[in-house]
Amino acid sequence: MAKHKLRQFAEIENFKNVFHHLQHTENIPEFKLKGKWNSTYFNNSNPLVLELGCGKGEYTLGLATNHPQKNFIGIDLKGNRIWRGAKTALETNLNNVAFLRTRIENIEFSFAPQEVEEIWITFPDPQPQIARIKKRLTSPRFLQHYRNIMKPGGSIHLKTDSELLCRYTLEIIAEQKLTLQQHSSDLYAELSSRIPEVQKSYPTETFSIQTFYEKKFSEKGFKICYIRFSL
Ligand SMILES: C[S@@+](CC[C@H](N)C(=O)[O-])C[C@H]1O[C@@H](n2cnc3c(N)ncnc32)[C@H](O)[C@@H]1O
Repeated sequence: MAKHKLRQFAEIENFKNVFHHLQHTENIPEFKLKGKWNSTYFNNSNPLVLELGCGKGEYTLGLATNHPQKNFIGIDLKGNRIWRGAKTALETNLNNVAFLRTRIENIEFSFAPQEVEEIWITFPDPQPQIARIKKRLTSPRFLQHYRNIMKPGGSIHLKTDSELLCRYTLEIIAEQKLTLQQHSSDLYAELSSRIPEVQKSYPTETFSIQTFYEKKFSEKGFKICYIRFSL
């Protein structure tokens, strides 16, 4: 492994805003902060928001800056990516932020029923192969994991450059009779062409925060799809 990655892995072990719950066994123990993120870590009762597959954590940091009255947890498998977001949060004293290294499919071991208010899924791998449909983060299997930890009516936000994942997610929403709250297949075209009142109906974050992957794909001219729905 490259030297700088090893250094990052060693550093995040001591970051007070990074937690690890990576299990390789079948009998996964419950994480010590399950059901206690607010009472034990954030020390308040503010709404808890997750970013799944947060990468370097741009969204988690941006959301936390925009909403000091909410708590944010960025979740990813990869420690070296989380390192970037966690270090920035520490350097800027962003105390309403934490990062968790875990598998999204094991999320119920880290969060209790109804502990989570909102979920953001930012530029996930679209998993285009049919054989990997179950790995899409908006597949019924993953939605069931979210249902087990979310408050009823809480929003799930998806931003993606993938037309396939956008279409797939809309199909699942219709099939499962979920509530579609907002949808744009070409977010930035819509925002630039429509009257300010309509623009205001989008959460500011849909256009004011851009992740590493969003920048990469926007620069290549890809349309950005945004979907907000509840379970
Ligand atoms: C395409 S990247 C997007 C990263 C970031 N959201 C962005 O927009 O720049 C997808 C991220 O999801 C993480 N990821 C993929 N599958 C995961 C899983 N099952 N559990 C946790 N993280 C996962 C990867 O490690 C990666 O950082």
